[in-house]
Amino acid sequence: MRRPTPADLRQAMTDLAARPEALQPHLGDPGIYPYGRKPLHSANGVEAIVMNWAAGRECAPHDHGRSFGWIHVVSGTIRHTLYTLDQDDVPVSFATRAEPTGTVMFAPRGAIHSMGNLTGEPTVTLHLYAPHVQGMKVWDLERCAMCVVAEDCGAWWPPEQRHRLQEITLHRSDPAAAGVAS
Ligand SMILES: [Fe+2]
Repeated sequence: MRRPTPADLRQAMTDLAARPEALQPHLGDPGIYPYGRKPLHSANGVEAIVMNWAAGRECAPHDHGRSFGWIHVVSGTIRHTLYTLDQDDVPVSFATRAEPTGTVMFAPRGAIHSMGNLTGEPTVTLHLYAPHVQGMKVWDLERCAMCVVAEDCGAWWPPEQRHRLQEITLHRSDPAAAGVAS
C-alpha cells in the first residue's frame, strides 16, 4: 500500500478486524510508562503499533509528526482528549470523551490528542499510521515545554535526553494564564 489515503488506511483497519486474543501475544509491558508500546509492522508507508495501557495512566498531549492515523480500541475504554494550540503554542484541551471497545477513530495529520486508561480495565489499542511516524511532538504542560521524540518513543516526556531530539521551552505571553502572580 504505497501512499495510502485515510480511506485506504481505514479499510486496512477494517480488514485486520483485530481481536484481543490475537493481540495478546504482542502486548508490551507498560513498566513505568502509560502504555507498553509494541511496533508490529512498518513497511510500504504504513506503521502498525499495539499499545497496552497501564491502569489509571494517561499519555502526554502529542501529535504524530507528518502522519495521519486510525486508532482501534480493541479492548477496554479509552479516555480521549483533543487539544488545539493557543496563541503561545501551548496545547489547550477542547473535548474529552470516553471511547468504548470497538471504537475506530481518526487522527488527522497535525491533530494533538492524549489518551488514557482511567477505568483500570485491561485496555488495548491498535494504531495504523501513514507514513511511518517521525518527528512526533510531545508536550509536558507542567514543564511548559515541548520536545520532538525519537522514533522508538511513546507519547511521554522521555526520561533519557538522547530520546529528546529537540526541546523547546514554551513562553506564555499572558503570565496570568499560567497562574503566575504579577
Ligand atoms: Fe496518538
